[in-house]
Amino acid sequence: MNDAARTLISKAMETAKPPVEFSAYAPSNIALSKYWGKRDAARNLPLNSSLSISLAEWGSHTTVRPSSDGRDHVSLNGETLSATSKFAIKALKFADLFRGGKDIPLVIDTRNTIPTAAGLASSASGFAALTRALCGAFGLDLSESEMSLIARIGSGSATRSFWHGFARWDKGEAEDGSDSFAQPLAYNWPEFRIAIVAVDVGPKSHSSRDGMNHTVATSPLFATWPDQAEADCKAIEQAVADQDFPVLGALAEANALAMHATMQAARPALSYLTSDSWAILERLWQARQDGLEAYATMDAGANVKLLFLQDSEVNVLSLFPEAQVIDPFGAL
Ligand code: DP6
Repeated sequence: MNDAARTLISKAMETAKPPVEFSAYAPSNIALSKYWGKRDAARNLPLNSSLSISLAEWGSHTTVRPSSDGRDHVSLNGETLSATSKFAIKALKFADLFRGGKDIPLVIDTRNTIPTAAGLASSASGFAALTRALCGAFGLDLSESEMSLIARIGSGSATRSFWHGFARWDKGEAEDGSDSFAQPLAYNWPEFRIAIVAVDVGPKSHSSRDGMNHTVATSPLFATWPDQAEADCKAIEQAVADQDFPVLGALAEANALAMHATMQAARPALSYLTSDSWAILERLWQARQDGLEAYATMDAGANVKLLFLQDSEVNVLSLFPEAQVIDPFGAL
């Protein structure tokens, strides 16, 4: 299989040095225009482009170092994981792309700064930080676009986690995936805010990967998604460029609801949103009728993420006192 990301890693590894300890950070991100559906599962290529905002200091710190006892070790948030845990298997499989069959035992230590109560997935920041840490440990001199291409193998949303602020992942056209990576958008928007309204549910029933594959395979509504998502992505980028918040918010909310509609039409239906998520949306829509300028987006989970500008923060918090507010440009 001709895969640009795998070829890039093996080429770079030809001149790699023996690994040294290297630590890296990557922020998590939330898509304003979603990635949902793959055109190529083996290369993890998307059917549509997507656009995100990074979550500043909410993300993953990952350290990679050579292991001194000849065995791999993976730890998460300070806890050593068994080699058979899902996280360890995924992280080591990703490291294998770099090791290329060679016996190079590694220690991989990841710490997420995303509050557990926020219930946000950390695969985007996790694979971006792991990519940065592995490249650093092996002394590979790769650009962020190249690292974004590589992180895509781990998780699509990780392509967008190499920068603060807004990023766009172009779906690309090439069969080998060489043009499918993300780039930062050079727009600063200091008033932009995100709030996470956490809905308390157990571990999610379906990973986003399984959920999107099931939707593509069975949902009659999916046929209209790729073109709509592509158009939304362009329009949201324009709204970012214009700093037109009402347009951006309305588009982001419509895009998220359209994505969830494709899942609800899947057979059998797939719903990440619970009655609590809908109750939050209804409260938001009522407040919007009363003049609050805030919008919602939801991913492969029950939590609702609110988008608003700084001057609405007090009103958002009085409506949702439990919400956790993120200032995406604040830490820059
Ligand atoms: C709903 O990036 O987790 O969050 O590429 O299969 O690992 P894989 O999927 P993943 O999907 C993210 C889906 C989403 C929308 C988005 O972040 O764009």
